[in-house]
Amino acid sequence: MKEKKIDIAYIEYESLTQLDEDDRVLAEMAVKATENSYSPYSGFAVGAALRLSNGEIVTGANQENIAYPSGLCAERTAMFYAHAKYPDAVMECMAIAGKQGGKICPTPATPCGACRQVMAEYQTKGGKPMKIILVGSGKIWKFSKVDDLLPLIFDSLK
Ligand code: THU
Repeated sequence: MKEKKIDIAYIEYESLTQLDEDDRVLAEMAVKATENSYSPYSGFAVGAALRLSNGEIVTGANQENIAYPSGLCAERTAMFYAHAKYPDAVMECMAIAGKQGGKICPTPATPCGACRQVMAEYQTKGGKPMKIILVGSGKIWKFSKVDDLLPLIFDSLK
C-alpha cells in the first residue's frame, strides 16, 4: 500500500494588469460576455472567451431554461460553437468570469465538472495544453492545462 498525492499548479494574479496583453484582452472579453448570459432562474451570469489557433476569439455565456437541464454553461456554449464553426482550430486558452448581483465574483468562479470534461476532450483532440484563466474581481487564477482542473482525466478507452 502506498499513499499518493497529486499536485496541481496555478498562478494567482492580483489584477488584470499583471496579465500578458493577449490574456488580459481575453479576460476582459469573458467579463463582457457575462452581459449575454440568459440566467433568469439562478441570477448567476457566466461569460467565457476562447482563443483559437486561427486567431479567432469565440465567446459564450450561460443559457438557462425553465426545464433546468436543458440549459447550458458558458464554457460549453463557447467550446461547442467554436468547434462547430472552426473544427480544425486548436483551443489555446479560455477565460471565464462569473457574476452575481451585477458584480464579478471576488473569488474566481470555477467551471463545473461537465465543462472540465469537455475542455479535456478538446485539449486531447487539439494535442496541445489548453490554458484556463479564471477571472475574479479580487484575484485571477491561471492554469496551464486542463489536467490541473481535472486530475486523472479519463483516457482508458483505447
Ligand atoms: N454555470 C456556468 O455557466 N458555468 C459553470 O461552469 C458553472 C455554472 C452556470 C449554469 C447556470 O446557468 C448558473 O451558472 C448557475 O449554476
